[in-house]
Amino acid sequence: MSQTKLTPPGPKGNFLLGNLQEFQSNPLKFLLNLRKEYGDFVQFRLGPFQKFYFINDPELIKEVLVTKQKSFIKSEDIQTLKTVVGEGLLTSEKEFHRRQRKLIQPSFKRSNILSYGEDMINTTLNYIFKWKNGEERLISEDMLNITLGIISKTMFNMEFKEGADVIGEPMEAVMKLGIKRMRKIVKLPLWVPTKQNRKLKKAIHALDDVLNEIIKKRRACNEKHEDLLGVLMDAKDETDDTHMSDKQLKDELMTIFLAGHETTANALTWTLYLLATHPEVDTKLFDELNNVVGSSLPKPEHFSRLLYTQNIVWEALRLYPPAYVIGREVDEDVVIGDYSLKKGDTVMISQYVMHRDETYFKDPTKFVPERFENDFMKTLPTYAFFPFGGGPRVCIGNHFALMEIVLVLACIVQQYQVTLPDDHHDVKPQPLITLRPKHGISLLIKDR
Ligand code: HEM
Repeated sequence: MSQTKLTPPGPKGNFLLGNLQEFQSNPLKFLLNLRKEYGDFVQFRLGPFQKFYFINDPELIKEVLVTKQKSFIKSEDIQTLKTVVGEGLLTSEKEFHRRQRKLIQPSFKRSNILSYGEDMINTTLNYIFKWKNGEERLISEDMLNITLGIISKTMFNMEFKEGADVIGEPMEAVMKLGIKRMRKIVKLPLWVPTKQNRKLKKAIHALDDVLNEIIKKRRACNEKHEDLLGVLMDAKDETDDTHMSDKQLKDELMTIFLAGHETTANALTWTLYLLATHPEVDTKLFDELNNVVGSSLPKPEHFSRLLYTQNIVWEALRLYPPAYVIGREVDEDVVIGDYSLKKGDTVMISQYVMHRDETYFKDPTKFVPERFENDFMKTLPTYAFFPFGGGPRVCIGNHFALMEIVLVLACIVQQYQVTLPDDHHDVKPQPLITLRPKHGISLLIKDR
């Protein structure tokens, strides 16, 4: 083993709080500044004891996410999600995670998700057909509604209204309270009967009941279902010939719902905002739609030919990655680059910071979808651009998400042009669980 130095550079911070205040007041600015001032490997503290390492070099990121990933587990914020989603893919670890991932992976293969394209298009068209020429719409809310509609349809074969009422409402209640809990520095166990804990437990039970009822109905019915729930129910572990238990199914459904809904809505919102503020890109996109789709409605098979549209989505994911940071807790002492990391330390990696690094991206703050032409991604080190993470924990829904964003965009842009109202508030990213626009984004809708 090579000789390791003890401490990477970093800000000294306050004796007691470390850099907690700066981090909390503007996490993105804080992380960008750390990169600028201290480089590829930075150390800082949040609170009196908690040591953080912030890593900004593609090769070192690869060590954390891929080659030495066995020495890490998910960071504490994700661990607290277990209260909500149980032991689903996002929160489970080690052998249990490996087994579940193997079981679920085939359902998300490129060839399998093509069959969901039709639902993605129909859900979008049913929603946007009510939009009126000249109206101003809260697009961030619309995109949440559309992605909720799509996940309800593809997962449970539920139509829009049913999906929103049956799953959307209890899910939203759990999420709101769950996020409040994640942000608390001291998290009392759920069995401590505080007012917030009681509310959260009640909301989790309500959602559990809904999902259990859906699973029970399905188990009782002998028909074959092609939706995601049907595919997950059929999935079989080849080593011991077993299917998922009801509890595993419920945890995975909740996880996929949670992981796939808001991230995709944010990506769509940011993309539409960028289109609204870059009319030259909007024109090129509309031309591509005319060439590929023509005057008919978009179809799933158009996806692979909408190459400029795909580049727009990659560029939006570069500038505003919905998953803007990945956290890992050191589970056993490990050496990364020149440094020894100890069990219990936390490693942070930020897509937001890496994607704006001028070493890899010329004019990094500019929206230029053309940069993704000519296999640009293949010329980059893998972990310079990684909106979906990497290694064994890479986003399982990456192909699903890309197809969804492209098809929803195609439906909207074919029919409407979007612009930013003159009196719109300054649009700023707000880094919560995902990177969303602070105070939402409203856009003016014009018929094409
Ligand atoms: C633009 C949209 C999306 C983005 C940016 C995104 C991003 C990510 C990232 C970065 C991770 C890895 C987190 C980590 O390593 O700690 C992840 C994991 C995950 N994502 Fe996505 N995601 C998106 C959409 C979706 C969709 C549509 C689904 C499902 C339908 C989904 C399901 C999941 C699941 C289940 C995991 C956990 C995988 C595992 O650990 O095995 N995501 N996502």
